[in-house]
Amino acid sequence: MGYAEVYKSWQDDPEAYWMAQAEAIDWVTPPRRALDDSKAPLYRWFTDATVNTCYNAVDRHVENGRGDQAAIIYDSPVTDTKRTITYAQLQTRVAALAGALRDKGITKGDRVIIYMPMVPEALEAMLACARLGAIHSVVFGGFAANELAVRIDDATPKAIIAGSCGIEPGRVVEYKPLLDGAIEMASHKPDVCIILQREQARAGMIAGRDFDWHEVTAKATPADCVPVPGDHPAYILYTSGTTGAPKGVVRPTAGHLVALNWTMKAIYQCDPGDVFWAASDVGWVVGHSYICYAPLIHGNTTVVFEGKPVGTPDAGTFWRVISEHDVRSFFTAPTAFRAIKREDPTGEEIKKYDISRLRALYLAGERADPDTIQWAQKIMGVPVYDHWWQTETGYTIAGNPAGIEALPVKIGSPTVAMPGYDVQILDDAGHPVPKGELGAIAVKLPLPPGTLPTLWNAEDRFIKSYLNTFPGYYETGDAGMIDEDGYLYIMARTDDVINVAGHRLSTGAMEEVLANHPDVAECAVIGVTDQLKGQLPMGFVCTNKGTAKSDDEIKAECIKMMRDTIGPVAAFKLIAVVDRLPKTRSGKILRGTMVKIADNADFKMPATIDDPAILDEIKRALQPMGYAGG
Ligand code: COA
Ligand code: AMP
Repeated sequence: MGYAEVYKSWQDDPEAYWMAQAEAIDWVTPPRRALDDSKAPLYRWFTDATVNTCYNAVDRHVENGRGDQAAIIYDSPVTDTKRTITYAQLQTRVAALAGALRDKGITKGDRVIIYMPMVPEALEAMLACARLGAIHSVVFGGFAANELAVRIDDATPKAIIAGSCGIEPGRVVEYKPLLDGAIEMASHKPDVCIILQREQARAGMIAGRDFDWHEVTAKATPADCVPVPGDHPAYILYTSGTTGAPKGVVRPTAGHLVALNWTMKAIYQCDPGDVFWAASDVGWVVGHSYICYAPLIHGNTTVVFEGKPVGTPDAGTFWRVISEHDVRSFFTAPTAFRAIKREDPTGEEIKKYDISRLRALYLAGERADPDTIQWAQKIMGVPVYDHWWQTETGYTIAGNPAGIEALPVKIGSPTVAMPGYDVQILDDAGHPVPKGELGAIAVKLPLPPGTLPTLWNAEDRFIKSYLNTFPGYYETGDAGMIDEDGYLYIMARTDDVINVAGHRLSTGAMEEVLANHPDVAECAVIGVTDQLKGQLPMGFVCTNKGTAKSDDEIKAECIKMMRDTIGPVAAFKLIAVVDRLPKTRSGKILRGTMVKIADNADFKMPATIDDPAILDEIKRALQPMGYAGG
C-alpha cells in the first residue's frame, strides 16, 4: 500500500486502523476498542487496556532474543567516553533503579522529576519510572533553578533524580547547586533526591534527603513492571505557552506506545535492530520520543550523544558518530546543520567518513530553511526529510512517510499529514480556506493516539489553549497553508512562542522577567531572525525616570536576570533601552511591526498606530546591534 491508500484506510476506519497498529504492542490486557469518546471533546485512547511501557521498551526484547543487542550506545566527546549497554544490561540496570525508587516509597502515579545531562542514566531514570508506573517529568539542563522550581511546584514530585553536573563546551555546569536552589525556592519539597555522581563535579549531599545512585541501586531488589491503564500518564513534559507558566503536556501510556512504534518504520524506515540516532536532548520532546522511547519500543539501538554539532571537537563529529556506530536514520534540528555549514561550508569533514549506510536525514523542531536542506542533501547524498510536530503531539503531524512510500520532496514543505491527523487551514472564523491560502493550522478532533489528552492539573487551560478557538479542532499555534497536492507549509506561530536553536521559548515569559527589574517601567520581547539559531529573543526596555543607573548597567542586569531566571538556553543577549514602545491607540504593543523593522522586512504602517515617529526610534536602537539594516 502506498501513502494515499494507508491514509485513506485510516480515514475510512480510524478505529480499525489503530487497533491494527496496537497489535505490535505487548499488552497485559489487550484493548477491545481504540477510541474512548465518552468525554468528547476530550478524547482518550485504549482506556480499557493495561500495559507497561518499560516492558515494551526493554524486557520484551530480552525475552525475544535481543538481549545481547545494543540498546544504547553512549558517545560522549565532551568526556571522551564511549559505552554500549545491551538490552539485557539495560533490563538489569533499570530494574535495579526501579527497585531503589520503590524502596524510597515511589509507586504508581507518583511524580518523579529528572534533571540530567545526556548520559544513558537519563534514559534509565525515565524507564525506571515507567517500570513502576511513576510519572516522570524531565527538565532540560539549560534551564535555571527558577524554571526547575516552577516545575517542582506544578508536578509535586515525591522524588528527583539528578546528575551532579552537565558538560557544556568549555565549562562544567554543576546541576546540584541549581537543584538545591530550586528545592529551596519551591513550596513543594520532594522526599528524596537520587544523585548520579559524575567525576567532573561531585555533588555535596544533604543527609537524609539525597542518596547516591550507585549505592541505592546496588542495595535494591529488582522491581518488576507494574501494569497501568491505557490512559495512565506516562510523563509530563513542560513546554512554553503564551504566559510565563509553562504548560505540562501529559503523555498517555498506551497511545504513546502504539503511535511511536508505528513511526519507527513508517517515517524513519527502521527495522528492529537498526541503529537510530536523534541528536537532541532528553529535556525536549524529541529526546523523549526519539532518544528514549520510540527506538527502544521498536527494538532499535539508540545513540545517546553528549556533545555539540561543532566544537566537540570539530564539525565532523556527526559524521564520525554516523559512520562509527552504523547509524541508519538520523534526526536533528536544522540549527545543528547551520552550525556545521558555517564551520565547514565545503563539507571537508564529511569526506573523512563513510556514511554510506545512512538512509536519510530527518529535520524538525523549527523551520527548515531551503539553503540548509539543499546543503545537507548535497554533502550527505541522502534524502533530507523535514517533518513538523510539537511537544503536544509527541510525533509527526506532517512528514514524508518514507517507510511506506517516499513522496517527492518539495523544499519548504514538511510534506503531508500522517494517518491520524486531519490537518486543515482555517480562517479567523474557523472556516477552511481554499488550497494555497494562508490560515491557522488546526487538526480535526480527535487527535490520534499518543497526543496530549490534557495539561497536567489544568484541564481548563487545556481547553482554553487548544480547543476553544476553533470548536471541533485542535489549534496548533502555527500558521501556514496546504497546496494543490496536499503538501503543508508552516509559516509562523500565531502566538508569542519563538524558536531559538530548535528550543521553544515564550517571549511572554521573558517579558515577565524584564518587568521585574526595578528600573524597568515597560518592556517588550520579540523574536528576531538569526542566521544560526533561526530566531533570537530581543528585549526593549523603557527605564524609570530618574534612575541612578546607566542604560548599560540596566541592560547588563537584565541579561543576567534572564540567564538566572530562565536559563542560558534563552540565549538572551540583545537588548535596547528606548524612550517609548510603539503602540496602538488602545495601548497594545506592536510587537509584529517591531519584528518586521528588526528583520528589515517590508511592512505596512499599522492603521491603529498611536505615534508612527516611535518606529524611527526603534530602528535607531536596533541598528547598532546589527538589525534594521544596521
Ligand atoms: N545544560 C546547561 N547549559 C546548556 C545546556 C544544558 N543541557 N544546553 C545549552 N546550554 C547553554 C549553552 O552552553 C549556551 O550557554 P552560553 O550562553 O554560556 O554559551 C546556551 O545554553 C545556549 O545554548 P544553545 O542554544 O545550544 O547554543 P550554543 O551556542 O551553545 O550552540 C548550536 C548552538 C546550534 C550548536 C546548538 O544549539 C545545537 O547543537 N543545537 C542542536 C539542536 C537541538 O538539539 N535542538 C533541540 C530540539 S530538536
Ligand atoms: P516543540 O514543541 O518545542 O517541538 O516546538 C513545536 C513548534 O516548533 C511547532 O509548533 C512549530 O512552530 C515549530 N516547528 C517544529 N517543527 C517544525 C518544522 N518542521 N517546520 C516549521 N516549524 C516547526
